Amino acid sequence: MRTKNYNIRTAGKANIPVLGLGTWQSTGQDCIDVVKKGLEMGYEHIDTAQAYDNEKEVGEGIKQSGVARDKFFLTTKIFPDDMKFEPEKLKAAAQKSLENLGVDYVDLLLLHWPDDRVPLSETIPALCELQKQGLTRHIGVSNFNIANITEAEKYADVPIVVNQVEFHPFIKQDTLQTFLNNHHILLEAYSPLARGDVFDNDIIKEIADKHNVTPAQISLAWILSDKHRVAIPKTSNPDHLQGNLDAVGVELSADELEKIGKLASSDGRKIEHPDYSPVWDD
Ligand SMILES: NC(=O)c1ccc[n+]([C@@H]2O[C@H](COP(=O)([O-])OP(=O)(O)OC[C@H]3O[C@@H](n4cnc5c(N)ncnc54)[C@H](OP(=O)(O)O)[C@@H]3O)[C@@H](O)[C@H]2O)c1
Repeated sequence: MRTKNYNIRTAGKANIPVLGLGTWQSTGQDCIDVVKKGLEMGYEHIDTAQAYDNEKEVGEGIKQSGVARDKFFLTTKIFPDDMKFEPEKLKAAAQKSLENLGVDYVDLLLLHWPDDRVPLSETIPALCELQKQGLTRHIGVSNFNIANITEAEKYADVPIVVNQVEFHPFIKQDTLQTFLNNHHILLEAYSPLARGDVFDNDIIKEIADKHNVTPAQISLAWILSDKHRVAIPKTSNPDHLQGNLDAVGVELSADELEKIGKLASSDGRKIEHPDYSPVWDD
């Protein structure tokens, strides 16, 4: 059953459902169950990665749901460990993901983080080749800064449709967002609930009370109010699945959007900042 407000965003011919199910830290039977239940209730977008070590469980959930492969959008990511961004290794890694997931193709294959040990002049043509060979319908990147994307675009002969980055009300991504908009690349918001921090914010709670919805829904609605964004909240809790999906139907006033927009600070990147992070743009 589709949720009536469940719509898509388009970039480079990719039609991406605006609200996906994140699966980082979904493991074992919980992961199988949440993916199965999510697809059954109307999620049309699932996000996983090799680094989450759950592709097999995501694949099992997909299988058990019985939902046809062409009815949902599936993303995985290749992590640059073991020099996997070298062209031959990249192809082997993509094939391994398809095998783990039990599918013939994914809709979106992302480079999980930039890796300066292998030049993008080698990695990007190899990634494009995987799309042409049908292993993925679209390609994208994650945790890339503007310089990384500018470099990647020099070597891409198919569109880069997404940059998946941390985004929620407490982090500024204005400079990156403007760049992505100009390049017709969607900003896919990971950690869109700031891993739970949005639940304790007084302004978000006040707006949630006014709408009689949850702070999670307000955070997601705020992210999706910009038509250049997609969000992938994670839950392993079946009770949270429907509420997160229903956030696509929550509409905020201009005043509420502005209030939430003022919560961000320039040092708001408080979650993902490993040693191998690029220099962020904001
Ligand atoms: N590309 C990257 O480098 C990268 C990095 C991080 C994340 N990601 C992707 O983005 C996804 C989401 O990010 P995230 O997992 O970091 O954080 P998140 O989605 O901001 O927050 C997840 C946390 O919020 C809780 N939660 C979810 N919905 C809730 C609700 N309605 N009410 C109360 N609690 C709720 C979850 O617990 P329950 O499970 O108990 O609901 C979990 O503890 C990941 O799963 C992954 O797919 C990508």
